[in-house]
Amino acid sequence: MSKLKIAITKGRLLEDSTRMFRRMGLDCDRLQNPGRRLVLGIPEIDLDVVLSKAPDVITYVEHGVCDMGIVGKDTILEHGRSFFEVLDLGFGKCRFALAVKEGSDFYDTYNTRRIATKYPKVAADYFASLGMDVSIIKIEGSVELAPILNLADAIVDIVETGDTLRANGLVPIETICEISARLIVNTAAMKLHKKEIFDFIYQCEGALK
Ligand code: PRP
Repeated sequence: MSKLKIAITKGRLLEDSTRMFRRMGLDCDRLQNPGRRLVLGIPEIDLDVVLSKAPDVITYVEHGVCDMGIVGKDTILEHGRSFFEVLDLGFGKCRFALAVKEGSDFYDTYNTRRIATKYPKVAADYFASLGMDVSIIKIEGSVELAPILNLADAIVDIVETGDTLRANGLVPIETICEISARLIVNTAAMKLHKKEIFDFIYQCEGALK
């Protein structure tokens, strides 16, 4: 049987995943010191870890070139289409929030509100669920700038500590949804490698207890 592959989001989710793997009794030396390598083997369980950007984790799992992935619910909501979301890993906790300039009243107008965000689908779905017509402006970088520059009336963004909002004179007014890291599995891989993948899921669950 070919080795299983898991795509993991680089950065904090990789650190948290490495901690989980260590609690599973796996040798994580290579994961801790990857250097410039992008594919790292975990010999004990015949698994290759593929280091990826968050949206690419979804792409690799949906195309079946990686059997599993570890990615934030934020990325799943924005980019995800078809795979199994099998486990809430509990780390990488934050939330999607609607935030405005301190002192401004988002609801006190009949004008169409302008919403800046890096997550246009999440924002569109949220306002559609409220039956509110808004204009969404996609921003690539620091979305907090949009209300400061008067490009937008509000932002939809990830809030973890709230420090970035506070430092820029913004306040959260609604929580859209809670976010954490999820284990996802390619639909065909789930059938082809059922035993190995279920063993891995049980090991992850055990390490998270
Ligand atoms: C996210 C988000 C905020 C910040 C919130 O950006 O877009 O800017 O974190 O965190 P806080 O509530 O703890 O201040 P991130 O640092 O992930 O970088 P990004 O702009 O590359 O998405």
